Amino acid sequence: MARCVCLVLAALLSVASTQFIPPYTEDCRAEMYPPNGPTFRGAVSWYTVDLDLPPSKRWTALITAKKTDLVNMIQAIKDLADAFVPSGRLIELVDITLPLMADTLPNPFSDEIKGIATASGIPLGEVVLFNIFYEVFTVCTSIVAEDDKGNLIHGRNLDFGLFMGWDVKNKSWIISEKLKPLVVNLDFKRNNQTVFKSTNFAGYVGMLTGIKPHMFTLTMNERFSLDGGYIGILEWILGKRDGMWMSFLTRSVLENANSYEEAKALLAQTKLLAPAYFILGGNRTGQGCIITRSRLLSIDILEIDLKLGRWYVLETNYDHWKEPLFLDDRRTPGMKCMNQTTQKNITLKTMYDVLSTKPVLNKLTTYTTLMQVSEGKLESYIRDCPNPCMPW
Ligand SMILES: *[C@@H]1O[C@H](CO)[C@@H](O)[C@H](O)[C@H]1NC(C)=O
Ligand SMILES: *[C@@H]1O[C@H](CO)[C@@H](O)[C@H](O)[C@H]1NC(C)=O
Ligand SMILES: *[C@@H]1O[C@H](CO)[C@@H](O)[C@H](O)[C@H]1NC(C)=O
Ligand SMILES: *[C@@H]1O[C@H](CO)[C@@H](O)[C@H](O)[C@H]1NC(C)=O
Ligand SMILES: *[C@@H]1O[C@H](CO)[C@@H](O)[C@H](O)[C@H]1NC(C)=O
Repeated sequence: MARCVCLVLAALLSVASTQFIPPYTEDCRAEMYPPNGPTFRGAVSWYTVDLDLPPSKRWTALITAKKTDLVNMIQAIKDLADAFVPSGRLIELVDITLPLMADTLPNPFSDEIKGIATASGIPLGEVVLFNIFYEVFTVCTSIVAEDDKGNLIHGRNLDFGLFMGWDVKNKSWIISEKLKPLVVNLDFKRNNQTVFKSTNFAGYVGMLTGIKPHMFTLTMNERFSLDGGYIGILEWILGKRDGMWMSFLTRSVLENANSYEEAKALLAQTKLLAPAYFILGGNRTGQGCIITRSRLLSIDILEIDLKLGRWYVLETNYDHWKEPLFLDDRRTPGMKCMNQTTQKNITLKTMYDVLSTKPVLNKLTTYTTLMQVSEGKLESYIRDCPNPCMPW
């Protein structure tokens, strides 16, 4: 434990000394779209996941294509684990205990994860670890906005890899960098028809970002809380398994819910393993909300309300009624740029400008997604944040 604390402190200090050099904020960006220049690493490619296949076979094509990147990613996680607990003991533990956990996960997730292990040749316990990982370390920005014609637009930056090894030379987060090649767009089909679409990491069966075309759009952000993810996950390991993994819930909502209202009710009422924010957009005026969740229930739902002048809702990783941590205020710059844009001018293009402004864009930002429900559109872009840039 002492070692962990020390390493985290050392990482923080090295980050602080190299990075706390203004300006890490900037004027709201404009004319960033179509994506180009140094903040744009590349487009995201599309793959199909056929829900008519048995769960163990659904991911084979994708995993075969992404095998090398997935192996590299898992190796990076192992290297980090070895840095914390030398001698390979931690991974030994993962290889021995986590395969048992795969059997405790509900289906289709259990079989899908086993299928990914088979297709990649990566030990099952390590694939389980990779799938738990995101439940614990994701910091993000999500926005749902309504334009002056009643169209709902949903954008998000996925920021991942906080505290997971700072590369001093490259001024980058080791895990965030390794994740970028794993970002994929997925088209989930049944009877050869799209059921929902998502931007995801190859090898991960939960959902953090997705759209059910013409019905709703959904993103999830982590909510840090004292009654955090660890307790629920520990309970799961110890056999108390009545809560749901958060990103399994979002996946199942995208797959099974058939309206904004149904999605909202499921997201607000299902018992979870850890707190979370769900950001949901619908297909009609006024349908956009942030659901702030504790493990047990919905604490608060903030909705778009045009009568109050609230034409968008924006969530980072702090309860909207509280001040964000002063070291990590992405909310104020994000809202400032949304306010400058105005409801009249909000489009996918101007939403991308907001999500390209530092520190909404930061060293953890892996991808930016833009969704327009009325057109069933989801587009994603891999991001970079050239120096000077906030580490988170
Ligand atoms: C630094 O980043 C570049 C490109 O992002 C990568 O090719 C290189 O391996 C990285 N260096 C280290 C030491 O990780
Ligand atoms: C599935 O749909 C695509 C285009 O939507 C079509 O080209 C293809 O033939 C269809 N496949 C089957 C098996 O129906
Ligand atoms: C919006 O969603 C509802 C519920 O799923 C659906 O009945 C309706 O057709 C959708 N409206 C549009 C304009 O797509
Ligand atoms: C943005 O506008 C809203 C609504 O008028 C206001 O409450 C908020 O303080 C503004 N935020 C910033 C950062 O300008
Ligand atoms: C909105 O867009 C129009 C046309 O591109 C532009 O002239 C105007 O300045 C924009 N308004 C704001 C507040 O950015």
